Formats: sequence, C-alpha cells, structure tokens
Amino acid sequence: MTEQTPVTETTAKAVPALPDAQTVTSVKHYTDRLFAFRVTRPASLRFRSGEFVMIGLMGDPDPKTGKQRPLLRAYSIASPSWDEELEFYSIKVPEGPLTSKLQHIKVGDQIILKPKPVGTLVHDALLPGKRLYFFATGTGFAPFASLLREPETYENYDEIIMTHTCRDVEELTYGRELIENLKQDEMMIELLGEKNLAKIKYYPTTTREESPKMGRITTLIENGELFTDLGIPPLDPAVDRAMVCGSLAFNLDIKALMEKAGLNEGANSEPGEFVIEKAFVG
Ligand code: A2P
Repeated sequence: MTEQTPVTETTAKAVPALPDAQTVTSVKHYTDRLFAFRVTRPASLRFRSGEFVMIGLMGDPDPKTGKQRPLLRAYSIASPSWDEELEFYSIKVPEGPLTSKLQHIKVGDQIILKPKPVGTLVHDALLPGKRLYFFATGTGFAPFASLLREPETYENYDEIIMTHTCRDVEELTYGRELIENLKQDEMMIELLGEKNLAKIKYYPTTTREESPKMGRITTLIENGELFTDLGIPPLDPAVDRAMVCGSLAFNLDIKALMEKAGLNEGANSEPGEFVIEKAFVG
C-alpha cells in the first residue's frame, strides 16, 4: 500500500504485492542502453536535490523455497526536491540482475522504493564558492538533472559548468534535452529565472563517436581545453567547487585531478571543495 492511496474497499482488495510500492507514471527509452522513468512520490518523502534512494523489484522466486526477495540498487533521484513525482535515469545491462528486468517496466507497474534518501552530492557538503562544476559520465548525469532544476544551485553560484562525457552522441540526449527544456519551459524559467539559467555552461563530449567535442573530460581538464573552450580560468580552490558522478574509475581519476588542483574532498559532516558519488552500474 502506498502512503498516497486511501484505504477503501476497492483499493484494499488490490493491495500490491510489493513492500514500499510506487507506481510508474512514465517511461522513456533513449537508446538500447539507457532509459528514464518517473514514479509516484511517497507523501512523506523529503530529500535534498542530488541524493539517492534504494529502488528495485522483487527478484525471481528461490527455486527451493519459492520465496522472493527484493532486488534493490542505489539510484540518484533525477528530479528536484520540489517535484511531485520522482524521476530516475538508468542503464540497461542485459545480464544485470535488476536492470535486465527494470528496463521492461511500463506505466502502471509498481517498483519498490525505500524512502530513505542519502548522499554527498548535496549543496550542504560544499563550502561556499563562485563556480560549480558538475562532472558526469553516462547515467552519472542523474543527480545533476535534479540539481540543475534546484533553485539553490543558482542562488549559491555565479556559474555552473555541466560536463557530460558519453561513448556516443545518442547517449548525450537525456542531458541535452533536459538543459534545452530548462531554458525553454515557462515554468522552469519562472522558477529558476532567465538570468540564472544563463549561468549554465553545458560541455558535452564523446569518446567513441565523432562529435563537436571529443575526448574524456579528464584529458580535457589535463590539457586545459575545457577551460580555453569555455573561456574560464583553470581550477582554483578559492572559487571553484565540484560534484562528480560516474564510474568508479572515472571518479578516481577526477578525484586525483581535483586534488592536484588543490581542492579537498568534502562530506555532509565536513564540507569541502568537491564531492563524489558513484553512478549506479550493473
Ligand atoms: P571511453 O569510451 O574512453 O571508455 P561507460 O559507458 O563505459 O560508463 O563510459 C561513459 C563515458 O565515460 C565514456 O565516454 C568513457 O570513455 C568515459 N570514461 C570511462 N572511464 C573513464 C575514466 N576513468 N576517466 C574519464 N572518462 C572515463
């Protein structure tokens, strides 16, 4: 039973089989590897933009006992804290225990959502600064989809540099469309402000298909192209802050680059100059 569903005789009969069930309200497939979906939001769920929750489905019945266990993974909430629904952006792994099933969800289906949001990609974990970098690869864009729609992001910073590196051009679509919509949607313009939206500098790159900007963002930081392309100074711990979300290898490489530039890693308990979270993989 979801907290949003009033108990009536009809709904009482239709009690969902899943604990902490939420209903899928939309699904959009971007490529054969990527999709996004939205679900109902538990009325009691409060979270900070950039946090993640555990979501999933019931696993297959145990061949011996017939019992089913929930199959849960950490997913960044891609929608902002003020949104009525919750959005998620996911990879599809053919052999992945969860995503091999999750990729087939349809509107009206139910998923499990544990309403305990946590995470370090939050404004509270960063010291005040002037320029905020969001470094993402692949589905690591998700927490930034939330933060880019969060008014606090624009209140706290003069410039927001959103970098997104994917294998090919099609994989950039979710992020590109989100930013385009932000700048065109009347409600978003009213909420965030036209001047604030102009603070976003979007820097998409690809590594395995020809596109206007090619290369891993780590390479483009090291050789300085990121800064010359955007007309901004190199990383400076006095004014620059960063949030990082990608694969483990990517996070480690960016962390090394941030530290080389003199930025220190922060946490909820001790804010710093950059924060890191691993994007869901597998
Ligand atoms: P590459 O194609 O050179 O591996 P994936 O789809 O495997 O999660 O990768 C998403 C993007 O992140 C790809 O463009 C990939 O580049 C890039 N990437 C993977 N590992 C790293 C890393 N350690 N540093 C920088 N970019 C990385």
